[in-house]
Amino acid sequence: MGVERICCIGAGYVGGPTCSVIAHKCPEVTVTVVDLSQSRIDAWNSPDFKLPIYEPSLKDVVMQCRGKNLFFSTDIDKGIREADLIFISVNTPTKTFGLGKGRAADLKYIEAAARRIANVAGGDKIVVEKSTVPVRAAESIQRILSANTKPGSNFQVLSNPEFLAEGSAVSDLLKPDRVLIGGEDSRYGHKAQDDLAWVYQHWVPKDKIIKTNTWSSELSKLAANAFLAQRISSINAMSAVCEATGADVAEVAHAIGTDSRIGNKFLQASLGFGGSCFQKDVLNLVYLCEALNLPEVAAYWQQVIDMNDFQRRRFANKIIGCLFNTVTDKKIAILGFAFKKDTGDTRESSAIYIAKYLMEEGARIQIYDPQVEHQQMISELSDPNISENPDRVKKLVSIFDDPYEALKGTHAFVICTEWDEFKDYDYQRIYSSMLKPAFAFDGRRLLNHNKLMEMGFHVETVGKKTVMNGMFPIAS
Ligand code: UDX
Ligand code: UDX
Repeated sequence: MGVERICCIGAGYVGGPTCSVIAHKCPEVTVTVVDLSQSRIDAWNSPDFKLPIYEPSLKDVVMQCRGKNLFFSTDIDKGIREADLIFISVNTPTKTFGLGKGRAADLKYIEAAARRIANVAGGDKIVVEKSTVPVRAAESIQRILSANTKPGSNFQVLSNPEFLAEGSAVSDLLKPDRVLIGGEDSRYGHKAQDDLAWVYQHWVPKDKIIKTNTWSSELSKLAANAFLAQRISSINAMSAVCEATGADVAEVAHAIGTDSRIGNKFLQASLGFGGSCFQKDVLNLVYLCEALNLPEVAAYWQQVIDMNDFQRRRFANKIIGCLFNTVTDKKIAILGFAFKKDTGDTRESSAIYIAKYLMEEGARIQIYDPQVEHQQMISELSDPNISENPDRVKKLVSIFDDPYEALKGTHAFVICTEWDEFKDYDYQRIYSSMLKPAFAFDGRRLLNHNKLMEMGFHVETVGKKTVMNGMFPIAS
Protein backbone atom coordinates (compact mmCIF):
# COMPACT_ATOMS: atom_id res chain seq x y z
CA MET A 1 0.00 0.00 0.00
CA GLY A 2 1.14 3.52 -0.61
CA VAL A 3 2.54 5.91 -3.10
CA GLU A 4 6.22 6.80 -3.41
CA ARG A 5 6.25 9.51 -6.04
CA ILE A 6 3.58 12.04 -6.90
CA CYS A 7 3.60 14.36 -9.89
CA CYS A 8 1.19 17.28 -10.23
CA ILE A 9 0.64 18.89 -13.64
CA GLY A 10 -0.22 22.56 -13.01
CA ALA A 11 1.58 24.73 -10.46
CA GLY A 12 -1.29 27.17 -9.96
CA TYR A 13 -3.50 28.23 -7.06
CA VAL A 14 -4.69 24.66 -6.56
CA GLY A 15 -1.74 22.46 -7.57
CA GLY A 16 0.94 24.51 -5.79
CA PRO A 17 -0.56 24.73 -2.28
CA THR A 18 -2.09 21.22 -2.39
CA CYS A 19 1.18 19.55 -3.27
CA SER A 20 3.16 21.67 -0.83
CA VAL A 21 0.93 20.47 2.00
CA ILE A 22 1.08 16.85 0.80
CA ALA A 23 4.90 17.04 0.75
CA HIS A 24 4.89 18.62 4.20
CA LYS A 25 2.65 15.92 5.68
CA CYS A 26 4.14 12.93 3.82
CA PRO A 27 7.92 13.26 4.19
CA GLU A 28 8.53 9.81 2.69
CA VAL A 29 6.70 10.74 -0.55
CA THR A 30 8.52 12.70 -3.26
CA VAL A 31 6.28 15.36 -4.79
CA THR A 32 7.14 17.09 -8.06
CA VAL A 33 4.97 19.90 -9.36
CA VAL A 34 5.39 20.54 -13.08
CA ASP A 35 4.11 23.35 -15.27
CA LEU A 36 4.48 24.61 -18.84
CA SER A 37 5.23 28.10 -17.59
CA GLN A 38 8.93 28.63 -16.96
CA SER A 39 8.31 31.90 -15.12
CA ARG A 40 5.85 30.26 -12.73
CA ILE A 41 8.27 27.43 -11.96
CA ASP A 42 11.13 29.93 -11.52
CA ALA A 43 9.01 31.80 -9.00
CA TRP A 44 8.25 28.60 -7.05
CA ASN A 45 12.01 27.92 -7.05
CA SER A 46 13.10 31.50 -6.29
CA PRO A 47 15.94 31.67 -3.74
CA ASP A 48 14.11 34.28 -1.64
CA PHE A 49 10.82 32.32 -1.76
CA LYS A 50 8.97 35.00 -3.73
CA LEU A 51 6.27 32.52 -4.71
CA PRO A 52 3.98 33.13 -7.70
CA ILE A 53 0.89 33.20 -5.50
CA TYR A 54 0.21 34.83 -2.18
CA GLU A 55 -1.33 32.60 0.47
CA PRO A 56 -0.91 33.01 4.24
CA SER A 57 1.60 30.41 5.63
CA LEU A 58 2.36 28.93 2.21
CA LYS A 59 5.89 30.27 2.21
CA ASP A 60 6.65 28.51 5.53
CA VAL A 61 5.41 25.18 4.19
CA VAL A 62 7.43 25.51 0.97
CA MET A 63 10.54 26.57 2.92
CA GLN A 64 10.35 23.39 5.00
CA CYS A 65 10.05 20.96 2.07
CA ARG A 66 11.46 22.46 -1.10
CA GLY A 67 14.58 20.62 -2.23
CA LYS A 68 13.89 17.78 0.25
CA ASN A 69 10.76 16.03 -1.01
CA LEU A 70 9.10 18.90 -2.87
CA PHE A 71 10.32 19.93 -6.32
CA PHE A 72 9.11 22.36 -8.99
CA SER A 73 10.08 21.74 -12.59
CA THR A 74 9.18 22.34 -16.24
CA ASP A 75 10.26 18.81 -17.14
CA ILE A 76 6.72 17.50 -17.41
CA ASP A 77 7.65 14.22 -19.11
CA LYS A 78 10.18 13.26 -16.46
CA GLY A 79 7.68 14.10 -13.72
CA ILE A 80 5.06 11.89 -15.34
CA ARG A 81 7.45 9.03 -16.07
CA GLU A 82 8.73 8.78 -12.51
CA ALA A 83 5.41 9.12 -10.67
CA ASP A 84 3.03 6.43 -9.38
CA LEU A 85 0.27 8.97 -8.97
CA ILE A 86 -0.36 12.02 -11.17
CA PHE A 87 -2.63 14.91 -10.27
CA ILE A 88 -4.04 16.91 -13.17
CA SER A 89 -4.43 20.41 -11.82
CA VAL A 90 -4.46 22.55 -14.93
CA ASN A 91 -6.99 25.32 -15.43
CA THR A 92 -10.40 24.75 -17.01
CA PRO A 93 -11.54 28.21 -18.12
CA THR A 94 -14.99 28.98 -19.53
CA LYS A 95 -14.98 28.59 -23.32
CA THR A 96 -14.79 31.90 -25.16
CA PHE A 97 -15.71 30.54 -28.59
CA GLY A 98 -17.58 27.77 -30.36
CA LEU A 99 -20.06 25.33 -28.89
CA GLY A 100 -20.99 26.22 -25.32
CA LYS A 101 -19.24 29.62 -25.60
CA GLY A 102 -19.49 31.59 -22.37
CA ARG A 103 -20.71 28.60 -20.36
CA ALA A 104 -19.03 25.26 -21.00
CA ALA A 105 -15.63 24.53 -19.45
CA ASP A 106 -12.76 24.39 -21.90
CA LEU A 107 -11.13 21.01 -21.39
CA LYS A 108 -8.29 21.43 -23.86
CA TYR A 109 -5.63 21.59 -21.14
CA ILE A 110 -7.05 18.52 -19.40
CA GLU A 111 -7.07 16.61 -22.67
CA ALA A 112 -3.53 17.75 -23.50
CA ALA A 113 -2.37 16.55 -20.07
CA ALA A 114 -4.09 13.15 -20.56
CA ARG A 115 -2.48 12.69 -23.99
CA ARG A 116 0.90 13.61 -22.62
CA ILE A 117 0.54 11.11 -19.78
CA ALA A 118 -0.46 8.39 -22.25
CA ASN A 119 2.51 9.20 -24.50
CA VAL A 120 5.24 9.11 -21.92
CA ALA A 121 4.02 6.93 -19.05
CA GLY A 122 5.01 3.31 -18.65
CA GLY A 123 3.84 0.89 -15.95
CA ASP A 124 0.88 1.35 -13.62
CA LYS A 125 -0.27 4.88 -12.82
CA ILE A 126 -3.11 6.46 -10.92
CA VAL A 127 -4.32 9.59 -12.70
CA VAL A 128 -6.26 11.97 -10.48
CA GLU A 129 -8.46 14.82 -11.71
CA LYS A 130 -7.92 17.64 -9.27
CA SER A 131 -9.22 20.33 -11.60
CA THR A 132 -12.95 20.96 -11.45
CA VAL A 133 -14.45 19.37 -14.54
CA PRO A 134 -17.87 18.68 -16.03
CA VAL A 135 -19.46 15.40 -14.95
CA ARG A 136 -18.10 12.41 -16.88
CA ALA A 137 -14.79 14.10 -17.76
CA ALA A 138 -13.00 11.19 -16.09
CA GLU A 139 -14.54 8.98 -18.73
CA SER A 140 -12.93 11.07 -21.49
CA ILE A 141 -9.58 10.95 -19.71
CA GLN A 142 -9.89 7.18 -19.32
CA ARG A 143 -10.72 6.76 -23.02
CA ILE A 144 -7.79 8.91 -24.15
CA LEU A 145 -5.47 6.95 -21.86
CA SER A 146 -6.83 3.54 -22.92
CA ALA A 147 -6.64 4.37 -26.62
CA ASN A 148 -2.99 5.38 -26.32
CA THR A 149 -1.68 3.07 -23.63
CA LYS A 150 1.67 1.45 -24.27
CA PRO A 151 1.91 -2.31 -23.69
CA GLY A 152 2.54 -3.00 -20.02
CA SER A 153 0.91 0.25 -18.85
CA ASN A 154 -2.24 0.54 -16.81
CA PHE A 155 -4.18 3.59 -15.71
CA GLN A 156 -6.82 4.10 -13.06
CA VAL A 157 -8.58 7.48 -13.18
CA LEU A 158 -9.85 9.04 -9.95
CA SER A 159 -11.76 12.22 -9.23
CA ASN A 160 -10.45 14.13 -6.21
CA PRO A 161 -11.84 17.66 -6.34
CA GLU A 162 -10.23 20.32 -4.22
CA PHE A 163 -12.42 22.40 -1.89
CA LEU A 164 -9.83 24.90 -0.63
CA ALA A 165 -10.71 28.58 -0.75
CA GLU A 166 -8.07 31.10 -1.73
CA GLY A 167 -6.73 33.21 1.10
CA SER A 168 -7.10 30.26 3.47
CA ALA A 169 -5.68 27.53 1.22
CA VAL A 170 -3.11 26.18 3.67
CA SER A 171 -5.45 25.99 6.67
CA ASP A 172 -8.22 24.51 4.49
CA LEU A 173 -5.80 21.86 3.25
CA LEU A 174 -4.54 21.10 6.74
CA LYS A 175 -8.04 20.83 8.21
CA PRO A 176 -10.41 19.90 5.40
CA ASP A 177 -14.10 19.37 6.13
CA ARG A 178 -13.79 16.32 3.90
CA VAL A 179 -11.65 14.76 1.21
CA LEU A 180 -13.63 13.33 -1.69
CA ILE A 181 -12.28 10.47 -3.78
CA GLY A 182 -14.37 9.16 -6.65
CA GLY A 183 -13.35 6.03 -8.53
CA GLU A 184 -14.45 3.17 -10.69
CA ASP A 185 -16.52 0.56 -8.91
CA SER A 186 -14.09 -2.31 -9.47
CA ARG A 187 -11.27 -4.04 -7.62
CA TYR A 188 -8.66 -1.83 -9.36
CA GLY A 189 -10.76 1.29 -8.83
CA HIS A 190 -11.06 0.60 -5.09
CA LYS A 191 -7.33 -0.13 -4.81
CA ALA A 192 -6.52 3.22 -6.45
CA GLN A 193 -8.95 5.01 -4.11
CA ASP A 194 -7.26 3.34 -1.14
CA ASP A 195 -3.82 4.38 -2.38
CA LEU A 196 -4.84 8.03 -2.66
CA ALA A 197 -6.66 7.85 0.68
CA TRP A 198 -3.40 6.59 2.21
CA VAL A 199 -1.74 9.88 1.21
CA TYR A 200 -4.42 11.99 2.91
CA GLN A 201 -4.58 9.73 5.97
CA HIS A 202 -1.18 11.09 6.98
CA TRP A 203 -3.11 14.03 8.46
CA VAL A 204 -6.83 13.72 7.69
CA PRO A 205 -9.01 11.51 9.96
CA LYS A 206 -10.28 8.46 8.10
CA ASP A 207 -13.94 9.34 8.66
CA LYS A 208 -13.44 12.58 6.74
CA ILE A 209 -12.33 10.76 3.61
CA ILE A 210 -15.40 10.06 1.50
CA LYS A 211 -15.22 7.49 -1.29
CA THR A 212 -17.90 7.62 -3.98
CA ASN A 213 -18.38 6.65 -7.58
CA THR A 214 -16.59 8.91 -10.06
CA TRP A 215 -19.65 10.79 -11.30
CA SER A 216 -20.89 11.61 -7.79
CA SER A 217 -17.49 13.03 -6.96
CA GLU A 218 -17.34 15.18 -10.09
CA LEU A 219 -20.90 16.44 -9.61
CA SER A 220 -20.40 17.10 -5.89
CA LYS A 221 -17.74 19.67 -6.64
CA LEU A 222 -20.00 21.57 -9.04
CA ALA A 223 -22.90 21.20 -6.58
CA ALA A 224 -20.86 22.52 -3.63
CA ASN A 225 -19.79 25.61 -5.55
CA ALA A 226 -23.31 26.14 -6.89
CA PHE A 227 -24.80 25.95 -3.36
CA LEU A 228 -22.19 28.35 -1.97
CA ALA A 229 -22.68 30.82 -4.83
CA GLN A 230 -26.44 30.50 -4.40
CA ARG A 231 -26.20 31.54 -0.74
CA ILE A 232 -24.35 34.70 -1.68
CA SER A 233 -26.85 35.51 -4.42
CA SER A 234 -29.67 34.88 -1.94
CA ILE A 235 -28.30 37.26 0.67
CA ASN A 236 -27.46 39.80 -2.03
CA ALA A 237 -31.03 39.58 -3.30
CA MET A 238 -32.16 40.30 0.27
CA SER A 239 -29.74 43.24 0.43
CA ALA A 240 -31.69 44.95 -2.36
CA VAL A 241 -34.92 44.47 -0.41
CA CYS A 242 -33.21 45.83 2.72
CA GLU A 243 -32.05 48.97 0.97
CA ALA A 244 -35.57 49.58 -0.30
CA THR A 245 -37.31 48.98 3.04
CA GLY A 246 -35.01 50.09 5.85
CA ALA A 247 -34.16 46.57 7.04
CA ASP A 248 -30.45 45.90 7.63
CA VAL A 249 -29.07 42.85 5.82
CA ALA A 250 -26.52 42.16 8.59
CA GLU A 251 -29.34 41.91 11.11
CA VAL A 252 -31.34 39.71 8.77
CA ALA A 253 -28.30 37.48 8.13
CA HIS A 254 -27.72 37.12 11.86
CA ALA A 255 -31.37 36.41 12.55
CA ILE A 256 -31.67 33.71 9.91
CA GLY A 257 -28.15 32.35 10.43
CA THR A 258 -28.89 31.37 14.04
CA ASP A 259 -31.30 28.77 12.70
CA SER A 260 -29.04 25.72 12.73
CA ARG A 261 -30.70 24.44 9.57
CA ILE A 262 -29.57 27.57 7.72
CA GLY A 263 -26.25 28.20 9.48
CA ASN A 264 -24.39 31.47 9.79
CA LYS A 265 -21.58 31.11 7.23
CA PHE A 266 -21.50 32.58 3.73
CA LEU A 267 -24.21 35.13 4.45
CA GLN A 268 -22.09 38.23 3.96
CA ALA A 269 -23.80 40.59 1.52
CA SER A 270 -21.30 42.11 -0.88
CA LEU A 271 -20.95 43.73 -4.28
CA GLY A 272 -21.10 40.23 -5.78
CA PHE A 273 -18.94 37.13 -5.64
CA GLY A 274 -15.79 36.81 -7.72
CA GLY A 275 -13.01 34.26 -8.04
CA SER A 276 -12.03 31.67 -10.57
CA CYS A 277 -14.62 29.10 -9.55
CA PHE A 278 -18.14 30.20 -8.69
CA GLN A 279 -19.17 31.76 -11.98
CA LYS A 280 -17.31 29.21 -14.09
CA ASP A 281 -18.69 26.22 -12.24
CA VAL A 282 -22.29 27.44 -12.05
CA LEU A 283 -22.21 28.20 -15.79
CA ASN A 284 -20.76 24.77 -16.32
CA LEU A 285 -23.67 23.26 -14.37
CA VAL A 286 -26.17 25.32 -16.38
CA TYR A 287 -24.64 24.06 -19.59
CA LEU A 288 -24.71 20.49 -18.36
CA CYS A 289 -28.41 20.77 -17.43
CA GLU A 290 -29.23 22.14 -20.86
CA ALA A 291 -27.33 19.32 -22.51
CA LEU A 292 -29.29 16.88 -20.35
CA ASN A 293 -32.54 18.47 -21.57
CA LEU A 294 -33.36 19.92 -18.14
CA PRO A 295 -34.10 23.57 -19.07
CA GLU A 296 -35.94 24.33 -15.80
CA VAL A 297 -32.96 23.18 -13.75
CA ALA A 298 -30.62 25.18 -16.00
CA ALA A 299 -32.73 28.34 -15.57
CA TYR A 300 -32.80 27.86 -11.78
CA TRP A 301 -29.00 27.90 -11.51
CA GLN A 302 -28.58 30.61 -14.18
CA GLN A 303 -30.47 32.92 -11.85
CA VAL A 304 -27.59 32.69 -9.34
CA ILE A 305 -25.31 34.27 -11.96
CA ASP A 306 -27.93 36.80 -13.08
CA MET A 307 -28.38 37.96 -9.48
CA ASN A 308 -24.61 38.39 -9.14
CA ASP A 309 -24.46 40.51 -12.30
CA PHE A 310 -27.42 42.52 -11.03
CA GLN A 311 -25.71 43.18 -7.69
CA ARG A 312 -22.57 44.54 -9.36
CA ARG A 313 -24.60 46.69 -11.75
CA ARG A 314 -26.83 47.92 -8.93
CA PHE A 315 -23.83 49.00 -6.83
CA ALA A 316 -22.21 50.81 -9.76
CA ASN A 317 -25.52 52.56 -10.49
CA LYS A 318 -25.73 53.64 -6.87
CA ILE A 319 -22.27 55.24 -7.14
CA ILE A 320 -23.21 57.07 -10.32
CA GLY A 321 -26.60 58.13 -8.92
CA CYS A 322 -25.10 59.52 -5.73
CA LEU A 323 -22.48 61.44 -7.66
CA PHE A 324 -25.30 63.51 -9.19
CA ASN A 325 -25.75 61.13 -12.12
CA THR A 326 -22.50 62.06 -13.74
CA VAL A 327 -19.03 60.70 -13.10
CA THR A 328 -17.40 61.86 -16.33
CA ASP A 329 -13.86 63.03 -15.54
CA LYS A 330 -14.46 62.60 -11.80
CA LYS A 331 -11.71 60.86 -9.90
CA ILE A 332 -12.94 57.82 -7.99
CA ALA A 333 -10.65 55.66 -5.85
CA ILE A 334 -11.07 51.89 -5.81
CA LEU A 335 -9.70 50.29 -2.66
CA GLY A 336 -9.04 46.61 -3.25
CA PHE A 337 -8.88 44.83 -6.56
CA ALA A 338 -8.45 41.19 -5.48
CA PHE A 339 -11.64 39.10 -5.49
CA LYS A 340 -11.34 38.66 -1.71
CA LYS A 341 -8.84 39.55 1.00
CA ASP A 342 -5.56 37.69 1.59
CA THR A 343 -5.01 36.82 -2.06
CA GLY A 344 -3.46 38.58 -5.04
CA ASP A 345 -5.88 36.77 -7.37
CA THR A 346 -8.11 39.02 -9.46
CA ARG A 347 -10.00 36.47 -11.56
CA GLU A 348 -13.66 37.55 -11.95
CA SER A 349 -13.20 40.10 -9.18
CA SER A 350 -16.21 42.38 -8.75
CA ALA A 351 -13.78 45.32 -8.70
CA ILE A 352 -13.20 44.72 -12.42
CA TYR A 353 -16.90 45.17 -13.15
CA ILE A 354 -17.30 48.22 -10.93
CA ALA A 355 -14.31 49.79 -12.74
CA LYS A 356 -15.78 48.78 -16.11
CA TYR A 357 -19.15 50.44 -15.41
CA LEU A 358 -17.47 53.59 -14.09
CA MET A 359 -15.06 53.73 -17.06
CA GLU A 360 -18.01 53.44 -19.43
CA GLU A 361 -19.25 56.68 -17.87
CA GLY A 362 -15.84 58.31 -18.33
CA ALA A 363 -14.75 58.27 -14.67
CA ARG A 364 -11.06 58.45 -13.78
CA ILE A 365 -10.21 55.46 -11.65
CA GLN A 366 -7.41 55.47 -9.05
CA ILE A 367 -6.75 51.99 -7.74
CA TYR A 368 -4.89 50.69 -4.70
CA ASP A 369 -4.55 47.05 -3.66
CA PRO A 370 -1.98 45.77 -1.15
CA GLN A 371 -1.21 42.54 -3.05
CA VAL A 372 -2.19 42.74 -6.72
CA GLU A 373 0.57 43.55 -9.23
CA HIS A 374 -0.03 46.74 -11.24
CA GLN A 375 0.31 44.94 -14.56
CA GLN A 376 -2.28 42.40 -13.47
CA MET A 377 -4.90 45.12 -12.91
CA ILE A 378 -4.18 46.76 -16.26
CA SER A 379 -4.39 43.44 -18.05
CA GLU A 380 -7.76 42.59 -16.41
CA LEU A 381 -9.20 46.00 -17.34
CA SER A 382 -7.82 45.83 -20.88
CA ASP A 383 -9.59 42.54 -21.60
CA PRO A 384 -11.85 43.03 -24.65
CA ASN A 385 -14.88 41.95 -22.57
CA ILE A 386 -14.20 44.77 -20.13
CA SER A 387 -12.90 47.59 -22.26
CA GLU A 388 -13.21 47.86 -26.02
CA ASN A 389 -10.20 50.10 -26.30
CA PRO A 390 -7.03 49.54 -24.22
CA ASP A 391 -6.05 53.19 -24.82
CA ARG A 392 -9.06 54.18 -22.78
CA VAL A 393 -7.74 52.13 -19.86
CA LYS A 394 -4.41 53.96 -20.15
CA LYS A 395 -6.22 57.28 -20.16
CA LEU A 396 -8.67 56.61 -17.34
CA VAL A 397 -6.87 54.29 -14.91
CA SER A 398 -4.02 55.09 -12.53
CA ILE A 399 -2.58 52.62 -10.07
CA PHE A 400 -0.98 53.58 -6.78
CA ASP A 401 1.38 52.04 -4.22
CA ASP A 402 0.17 54.35 -1.48
CA PRO A 403 -3.52 54.37 -0.55
CA TYR A 404 -3.44 57.98 0.63
CA GLU A 405 -2.09 59.09 -2.75
CA ALA A 406 -4.82 57.06 -4.51
CA LEU A 407 -7.47 58.88 -2.48
CA LYS A 408 -6.14 62.43 -2.88
CA GLY A 409 -8.38 64.74 -4.91
CA THR A 410 -11.10 62.12 -5.45
CA HIS A 411 -14.86 62.62 -5.22
CA ALA A 412 -15.42 59.16 -3.82
CA PHE A 413 -13.83 55.93 -2.75
CA VAL A 414 -15.22 52.46 -3.24
CA ILE A 415 -14.26 49.50 -1.03
CA CYS A 416 -14.22 46.47 -3.32
CA THR A 417 -12.12 44.02 -1.25
CA GLU A 418 -12.37 43.49 2.50
CA TRP A 419 -8.64 43.91 3.27
CA ASP A 420 -8.14 44.31 7.04
CA GLU A 421 -5.74 47.24 6.59
CA PHE A 422 -8.56 49.38 5.15
CA LYS A 423 -10.17 49.42 8.60
CA ASP A 424 -7.13 51.10 10.15
CA TYR A 425 -6.65 54.01 7.75
CA ASP A 426 -6.76 57.60 8.95
CA TYR A 427 -10.11 58.55 7.42
CA GLN A 428 -9.95 62.06 8.87
CA ARG A 429 -6.80 62.65 6.83
CA ILE A 430 -8.44 61.01 3.81
CA TYR A 431 -11.54 63.18 4.19
CA SER A 432 -9.41 66.33 4.22
CA SER A 433 -7.64 65.30 1.01
CA MET A 434 -10.85 64.56 -0.94
CA LEU A 435 -13.22 66.85 -2.84
CA LYS A 436 -16.49 67.71 -1.08
CA PRO A 437 -19.01 66.32 -0.69
CA ALA A 438 -16.82 63.27 -0.11
CA PHE A 439 -18.49 59.92 -0.74
CA ALA A 440 -17.63 56.52 0.75
CA PHE A 441 -19.12 53.48 -0.99
CA ASP A 442 -18.50 50.44 1.15
CA GLY A 443 -19.15 47.37 -1.02
CA ARG A 444 -18.02 45.06 1.79
CA ARG A 445 -19.66 46.61 4.85
CA LEU A 446 -16.16 46.82 6.28
CA LEU A 447 -15.84 50.28 7.81
CA ASN A 448 -17.39 52.03 10.79
CA HIS A 449 -20.06 54.01 8.96
CA ASN A 450 -21.16 56.12 11.92
CA LYS A 451 -17.60 57.38 12.42
CA LEU A 452 -17.26 58.16 8.72
CA MET A 453 -20.53 60.08 8.77
CA GLU A 454 -19.43 62.03 11.82
CA MET A 455 -16.32 63.07 9.88
CA GLY A 456 -18.55 64.36 7.10
CA PHE A 457 -18.55 61.50 4.59
CA HIS A 458 -21.67 60.61 2.68
CA VAL A 459 -21.70 56.85 3.22
CA GLU A 460 -23.42 54.24 1.09
CA THR A 461 -23.20 50.50 1.60
CA VAL A 462 -24.82 47.22 0.65
CA GLY A 463 -28.04 46.10 2.32
CA LYS A 464 -28.70 49.15 4.43
CA LYS A 465 -30.44 52.42 3.70
CA THR A 466 -28.26 55.41 4.48
CA VAL A 467 -29.88 57.49 7.17
CA MET A 468 -28.58 61.01 7.55
CA ASN A 469 -29.75 64.30 8.93
CA GLY A 470 -30.48 66.40 5.90
CA MET A 471 -29.36 65.69 2.38
CA PHE A 472 -25.66 65.59 3.09
CA PRO A 473 -23.69 65.55 6.29
CA ILE A 474 -22.26 68.91 7.32
CA ALA A 475 -18.74 69.33 5.98
CA SER A 476 -16.13 69.63 8.70
C1 UDX B 1 -7.94 25.91 -10.78
C2 UDX B 1 -8.32 24.49 -10.65
O1 UDX B 1 -7.31 23.57 -10.82
C3 UDX B 1 -9.54 24.23 -11.28
O2 UDX B 1 -10.12 23.15 -10.62
C4 UDX B 1 -10.48 25.31 -11.13
O3 UDX B 1 -11.66 24.92 -11.73
C5 UDX B 1 -9.96 26.59 -11.72
O4 UDX B 1 -8.73 26.80 -11.48
P1 UDX B 1 -5.82 27.07 -10.68
O5 UDX B 1 -4.82 26.28 -9.96
O6 UDX B 1 -6.54 28.15 -9.93
O7 UDX B 1 -6.82 26.06 -11.33
O8 UDX B 1 -5.36 27.64 -12.07
P2 UDX B 1 -4.04 28.35 -12.44
O9 UDX B 1 -3.53 29.10 -11.27
O10 UDX B 1 -4.31 29.01 -13.73
O11 UDX B 1 -3.02 27.12 -12.64
C6 UDX B 1 -3.03 26.24 -13.68
C7 UDX B 1 -1.57 25.98 -14.09
O12 UDX B 1 -1.53 24.95 -15.05
C8 UDX B 1 -0.88 27.20 -14.71
O13 UDX B 1 0.29 27.49 -13.99
C9 UDX B 1 -0.57 26.75 -16.14
O14 UDX B 1 0.65 27.26 -16.63
C10 UDX B 1 -0.52 25.24 -15.98
N1 UDX B 1 -0.79 24.51 -17.21
C11 UDX B 1 -1.89 24.77 -17.95
C12 UDX B 1 0.10 23.51 -17.62
O15 UDX B 1 1.11 23.28 -16.96
N2 UDX B 1 -0.19 22.79 -18.73
C13 UDX B 1 -1.28 23.05 -19.51
O16 UDX B 1 -1.47 22.39 -20.53
C14 UDX B 1 -2.15 24.08 -19.10
C1 UDX C 1 -14.56 28.89 -3.59
C2 UDX C 1 -15.08 27.81 -2.63
O1 UDX C 1 -15.31 28.40 -1.35
C3 UDX C 1 -14.08 26.67 -2.53
O2 UDX C 1 -14.59 25.64 -1.72
C4 UDX C 1 -13.82 26.14 -3.92
O3 UDX C 1 -12.85 25.12 -3.86
C5 UDX C 1 -13.35 27.25 -4.84
O4 UDX C 1 -14.29 28.30 -4.85
P1 UDX C 1 -12.82 30.87 -3.45
O5 UDX C 1 -13.45 31.34 -4.72
O6 UDX C 1 -11.34 30.75 -3.38
O7 UDX C 1 -13.40 29.44 -3.04
O8 UDX C 1 -13.25 31.87 -2.25
P2 UDX C 1 -14.57 32.09 -1.41
O9 UDX C 1 -14.16 32.37 -0.02
O10 UDX C 1 -15.55 31.02 -1.61
O11 UDX C 1 -15.15 33.45 -2.00
C6 UDX C 1 -15.67 33.57 -3.31
C7 UDX C 1 -16.29 34.93 -3.49
O12 UDX C 1 -17.50 35.06 -2.75
C8 UDX C 1 -15.40 36.09 -3.05
O13 UDX C 1 -15.50 37.15 -3.97
C9 UDX C 1 -15.99 36.47 -1.72
O14 UDX C 1 -15.73 37.79 -1.38
C10 UDX C 1 -17.46 36.24 -1.97
N1 UDX C 1 -18.26 36.03 -0.76
C11 UDX C 1 -18.00 34.96 0.05
C12 UDX C 1 -19.31 36.89 -0.46
O15 UDX C 1 -19.57 37.85 -1.18
N2 UDX C 1 -20.06 36.66 0.66
C13 UDX C 1 -19.83 35.59 1.49
O16 UDX C 1 -20.56 35.43 2.49
C14 UDX C 1 -18.76 34.72 1.17
